[in-house]
Amino acid sequence: MAKKIIIANWKMNPESISEAKKLLQLVKKGTSRLKKTMVVIAPPFQYLHLLNPIKNRILLGAQDGFIGGTGAFTGEISFSMLKSMSVSHVILGHSERRAMGETNELISKKILSALKNGITPIVCIGESHRDSQGSYLAFIDEQIRMTLAGLSKKDATKILIAYEPVWAIGKTKDEAMSSEKLHEMSLFIHKILVGMYGREIAKDVPIIYGGSVELGNAGNLIKNGNVVGFLIGHASLKAKEFVDILKDTDNS
Ligand code: PGA
Repeated sequence: MAKKIIIANWKMNPESISEAKKLLQLVKKGTSRLKKTMVVIAPPFQYLHLLNPIKNRILLGAQDGFIGGTGAFTGEISFSMLKSMSVSHVILGHSERRAMGETNELISKKILSALKNGITPIVCIGESHRDSQGSYLAFIDEQIRMTLAGLSKKDATKILIAYEPVWAIGKTKDEAMSSEKLHEMSLFIHKILVGMYGREIAKDVPIIYGGSVELGNAGNLIKNGNVVGFLIGHASLKAKEFVDILKDTDNS
């Protein structure tokens, strides 16, 4: 059985290097007994060097990357640089970056560039709101097609899709998506991928969920949501809660 995957999206946290060290240490300790779950920690860039990845158990993720190689691009960090720091995954197309102006076109270029450098893109998609006519479904369909534009069949199985409905991000477990609705959405996303790449390829594209995953809803979402893991924001900053989520998921 393929491993479940849980990605910790620290966003722009914690405030200091000493807090980051402490959090990493606790999470590392908490992952030592996991059997069926792989953990990716995606801290801000300046904390990346604090973690030495452990194969198949705890890996290193980045929260963004730049499409070019080296050069005159002040403030940017390339995928090849990230690779040289043992980064294996990168979160791309997060709604918080889309809100800062990232377009589907740019995200699709970043996906291709990450893959060229041997980094697994965690491609975020998700509607900002739902309407009773269901036009959010057409929105998701278009967002997936545009974001994955140019991605070959061969490379399609090298990405992960993180379905993150924007309305569920940064809230509480009670406002997150229900496992029934998540199940429906993961089938819908899978169907789009079948249309784009065929059944054989689509079955190998992992779909994970993000949006207020906490200890109180993680077990149910992994059991009944038809996803293979989570992208976790605020709950990944609380070491005990995060480790308990990992254990819960591992036992599900
Ligand atoms: P959240 O964030 O768990 O705080 O909702 C998830 C995300 O934005 O990736």
